[in-house]
Amino acid sequence: MESIQLDITKAVQFLTPGTVEAFAPQVAAAQKALEDATCEGNDFLGWLHLPSQIVESALIEEIKTVANTLREKCEVVVVAGIGGSYLGARAIIEALSNSFSQLINDKQNPVILFAGNNISEDYLYELTEYLKDKKFGVINISKSGTTTETALAFRLLKKQCELQRGKDEAKEVIVAITDAVKGAARKAATQEGYKTFVIPDNVGGRFSVLTPVGLLPIAVAGFDIEALVKGAADMEKQTSIEVPFAQNIAARYAAVRQSLYQHAGKKIEIMVNYQPKLHFMAEWWKQLYGESEGKDLKGIFPAACDFTTDLHSMGQWIQEGERSIFETVISVEQPNHQLLFPHDEENLDGLNFLEGKRVDEVNKMAELGTRLAHVDGGVPNIRLTLPTLNAYYLGQLIYFFEIGCGISGLVQAVNPFNQPGVEAYKKNMFALLNKPGYEAESAAIREHL
Ligand code: PA5
Repeated sequence: MESIQLDITKAVQFLTPGTVEAFAPQVAAAQKALEDATCEGNDFLGWLHLPSQIVESALIEEIKTVANTLREKCEVVVVAGIGGSYLGARAIIEALSNSFSQLINDKQNPVILFAGNNISEDYLYELTEYLKDKKFGVINISKSGTTTETALAFRLLKKQCELQRGKDEAKEVIVAITDAVKGAARKAATQEGYKTFVIPDNVGGRFSVLTPVGLLPIAVAGFDIEALVKGAADMEKQTSIEVPFAQNIAARYAAVRQSLYQHAGKKIEIMVNYQPKLHFMAEWWKQLYGESEGKDLKGIFPAACDFTTDLHSMGQWIQEGERSIFETVISVEQPNHQLLFPHDEENLDGLNFLEGKRVDEVNKMAELGTRLAHVDGGVPNIRLTLPTLNAYYLGQLIYFFEIGCGISGLVQAVNPFNQPGVEAYKKNMFALLNKPGYEAESAAIREHL
């Protein structure tokens, strides 16, 4: 099997020779701390060997069975979740779906919709209206089981599902993915008798895509979760602690990022794709790196652009704005389809020079031209190549980013596995909404208004 490739040559040229290699001992120490579970956040390392543990396991079979039930009984499946309980599934489903799958009603696959990732009244109203004449099911995903966005959407969806299908049938199409014992989602699932999957205690939300959190929605959408996990398991081997620094692409990615951040003043990493289907892959990556590294007043800011689309909006800034950025480009070598550019007798658009070429060749020249221009403009460029867009290589990509993140965060000397900062807005929101138990905060916050 081929593998994703990492090219850092166009980033290294911005650094004093030897800078990346000088990180090798720190990277090795970080990998050892992960392996030995001696690092900060060592109670959240369940993701580290997850792919090799679950590849060909009974869990995969169970997920496929439950997915088939939902596929048989539902025209639409709503996946309720936010952050780590949402982005991984969406990233893989969008990357593997036909770009127009929502419009092509082939009846072979249920339509997958997402909720519980915002608190927009219009969004939820429009969703519940759309579902009114649909046979729909719900996958309720929340590790804590108490996240407001998700719980709010789930209450609405549960009621509607029971109203439309009756309580007994609703039970067959509502699945909860949550903590083994605690939280409101677990309580409701036990009381109502829903099928449940457990999110392991030692796997944090943003590292949970290869648990049922990601795997069930992906399987319901009709994609090959075995290939996904196999790709991740192969990448686990390829980036293991035994693989020397020179060959270990995750170790090198972590080292080059930290080199650019610590020694070249590059504070922002822009994840770039040339395939719109990868938009949510970058959203998932933003959470993984942002929540893991952005703390203790440190951290590379993870941003994302879809090219060539955003070259017509953000291209100017990237080419000539403040030189505090570097780019990581995800490039897909072979598209899944072929489309040749046609001849036109009149050639009014002057594009006959492209006649007979694949559209992807134009895309690749745009990519190369952009890379050269941005490097000339002072933007270091890291390139990741996927042989093609399929479940296996996406599995590789997921694990590559996860292990790269664990290493990079530890090299940056933060705990990559906590997220204390996300509580601040919740405290204020609950105080403002007069949630019982927040009386003191409520009084305090009102003095500031
Ligand atoms: O990575 C994280 O921990 C967060 O993004 C959570 O996944 C997110 O806040 C959702 O939490 P929960 O799964 O508890 O509803």
